[in-house]
Amino acid sequence: MLDWDDDATPKQPQTSNPEGPRPVNVDDKRVINGETDINQLAPFKYPWAWEYFMNANKNHWTPLDINMAQDVHDYHHRLTPSEKHVYENVLAYLTTSDILAMRNIGLAVMEKMSAPELQIYQARQVYEEALHTWTYQHCIETLNLDQSEIYNRYRVVPQINQKIQVANRRLDAAMRSDMNLRNPDDLQEFIMSYLFFAAVFEGCWFYNGFSPIFALQRRGLMRGTGEQLQYILRDEAMHFSFGLKVVNQILEEENITLDPNAVREMWDESEAAEQAYADYILRDPILGYSAEYHSEQFRFVANRRARTVGLEEPFPGARNVSPWLDEQATMRKEKNFFETRVIEYQTGASLEW
Ligand SMILES: [Fe+2]
Ligand SMILES: [Fe+2]
Repeated sequence: MLDWDDDATPKQPQTSNPEGPRPVNVDDKRVINGETDINQLAPFKYPWAWEYFMNANKNHWTPLDINMAQDVHDYHHRLTPSEKHVYENVLAYLTTSDILAMRNIGLAVMEKMSAPELQIYQARQVYEEALHTWTYQHCIETLNLDQSEIYNRYRVVPQINQKIQVANRRLDAAMRSDMNLRNPDDLQEFIMSYLFFAAVFEGCWFYNGFSPIFALQRRGLMRGTGEQLQYILRDEAMHFSFGLKVVNQILEEENITLDPNAVREMWDESEAAEQAYADYILRDPILGYSAEYHSEQFRFVANRRARTVGLEEPFPGARNVSPWLDEQATMRKEKNFFETRVIEYQTGASLEW
């Protein structure tokens, strides 16, 4: 309450023109298929979306903030050929994936939202995906890797290409310009595409995708890259958590039930692609990390994402083989993961998902 306002009763918006636009009624706002004014931020129907935007802004950083000097030495003098293989292929996969993520949120998902508080966070997410792409490029440039070779790797390595193809096919479905979300078939297609994006692409493939490099970081190798990826992981943890909240909200508002066969197919296809990818990047296990370890963690994380949207666990009994991954994501202030910069810079609240 501002001190110049002595009236404690909330004021009703005044309408001076009875023929003109009506004030926005918060109950009329919807995630999709809403008809309220998309340019009017408040009143908020989804205040949690605004909170995500506030928290995202507390994780502000650029790749130039992090010292990469030791990584240059490590890469050229300390990594074994197997470790180089892991490092390079993880970067090759991630850099293509983050462009795909940016395009999906910015071009396919955001335009379908009919509440501006959702779009505001997604606008921030688009920027963050671009920032992630810059980060990989910064690592590639700093280590003086062959850019043409690294960026083309996803095209010529079938096991990397397969993951990108699965993502392209599932995400392209939501990019169709004639998609009409009032049509039940289109709505199902969109919700499955968004579920894949939030639960698998960001929630598993990104979330778990940094682990092989964290395994190097935990042994004191490539620590600058590891720190860069910790910042990215923190963004991604918010992205998939937000995405799953939006999916839940759409399921409730539109009264949709997911097709269990389509969901099962999504998990099976994603697991097969991840297994093949893990078998390739870790064809020789590195100290403390193996393909089996990576795939098991995928299954464990997938179970969690499924529960978040009220689905049964796709891989019952999967074990949490890398519990340290959650610590990397939450990066609470009291834990000094940041050895190359001032930790107080990060002030974001911890998240639950
Ligand atoms: Fe990203
Ligand atoms: Fe993301």
